[in-house]
Amino acid sequence: MATIGIDAVAIAVPKGYVELADLAAARGVPPGKYVEGLGVTRMSVARAHEDPVALAANAARRLFATAEIDPGRIGLCVAGTETAVDHSKPVAAYLHRLLGLPERCRVFEAKHACFGGTAGLLAAIDWIASGSARGRQALVVCTDVARYALNSPGEPTQGAGAVAMLISENPRLLALEPGISGSYSKDVNDFWRPLYTKEAVVDGHHSVQCYLDALAGAYEGFKDASREAGYHPDSLVRRCYHVPYGKMAKKAHRHVMQLEGKNEAQADASYVEQVATSLRMPSQVGNIYTGSLYLALTSLLEAEASELEGKRIGLFSYGSGCTAEYFAGRIQAGAGAFVAKLQLAEPLADRRCYTIPEYEAIRHADSDGDRLPLSAEHGYNGSVAFLGVDNERRVYSN
Ligand code: HMG
Repeated sequence: MATIGIDAVAIAVPKGYVELADLAAARGVPPGKYVEGLGVTRMSVARAHEDPVALAANAARRLFATAEIDPGRIGLCVAGTETAVDHSKPVAAYLHRLLGLPERCRVFEAKHACFGGTAGLLAAIDWIASGSARGRQALVVCTDVARYALNSPGEPTQGAGAVAMLISENPRLLALEPGISGSYSKDVNDFWRPLYTKEAVVDGHHSVQCYLDALAGAYEGFKDASREAGYHPDSLVRRCYHVPYGKMAKKAHRHVMQLEGKNEAQADASYVEQVATSLRMPSQVGNIYTGSLYLALTSLLEAEASELEGKRIGLFSYGSGCTAEYFAGRIQAGAGAFVAKLQLAEPLADRRCYTIPEYEAIRHADSDGDRLPLSAEHGYNGSVAFLGVDNERRVYSN
């Protein structure tokens, strides 16, 4: 039987970022609190032109170009996002035109806080496994701009970016395991965003506990499903987590190791071996909500795909509110050479550092970003950008 999974991946990030050490200085906080305490070095900052549609389109175009994918073969396109640009029209509808996808294509948006991308990925896997795909492929794009109030505890855990993934039979990167996963859900008030604001409301320390509870529940379910399928949890050699900030992934791994009966020293050693590499890209970008787990996976692939060919890795997705899924996959033979071709980290190299006054000016302008008057002046030649609103319609450069 054919395997199903992630065939190719690409990321897009805004053109600018803030150094967390600069933000700490401006907020009168020791830099160690953000850089070591939270495990974040830089956070991406999106201008109004770099909205979730533009980020998603740029990630997907990069995916098609670097992995040599024919858009004409896409039969399902899902955008996972919790910072959509419209209450009704989905990000995926804009993508459909900007990417030149076929009319015979199922297109929708999925929302459940940071879980929306995983909801899309699991729907894509089921779509292929059920036979509905009939040889076609699925595009899943996770895209978000994470915003908390200026001067709030959440501020250093912002970020922005998109991760585009092609889901297909006989994937070149990661074969997933349909049916072997653990789910967990509970109605909690840890993090939400009322309709009247672009900034998330969060009960920060409570959200950390909700994440850990959901991880324990999903992991137990995953272990049961794994056992039934004849796998041992020790067969996982690397683990990627949802990364709101790097330290959260460290806490998460410690929690899993405790559940496995390991002591603190063993958990810390295991973190260095199994998790640390996946946090390199997230530490340069910040929380990108739906894409955060897949940015961690991209980071792992970029650094270690060759060494990990044939090996099994664990994936944990968390969405506030809350729902979670623990699942796993196997890195495919040839993934190392393919990853080298994908140039996964390239978008991170082409960025500039904003001063704190520049960042604050971008944030103030952003509150009116969805009413931006139409203008061709945006400075993003060659990439998709939001140009403004014309007669109530959002317009994008193409
Ligand atoms: P806080 O209360 O300001 O920070 O905000 P703190 O006092 O807890 O300190 C943070 C860490 O820095 C601590 O380490 C301190 O010890 C350390 P820990 O005890 O946790 O290991 N520290 C220092 N380290 C070195 N040098 C120093 C220093 N000072 C302190 N000088 C909080 C932290 C995470 C609560 C805040 O940033 C926040 O509210 N963030 C947003 C919420 C969040 O990210 N939650 C994560 C779980 S929920 C989730 O992941 C879902 C989400 O992605 C949304 C979705 O699903 O859509 C958010």
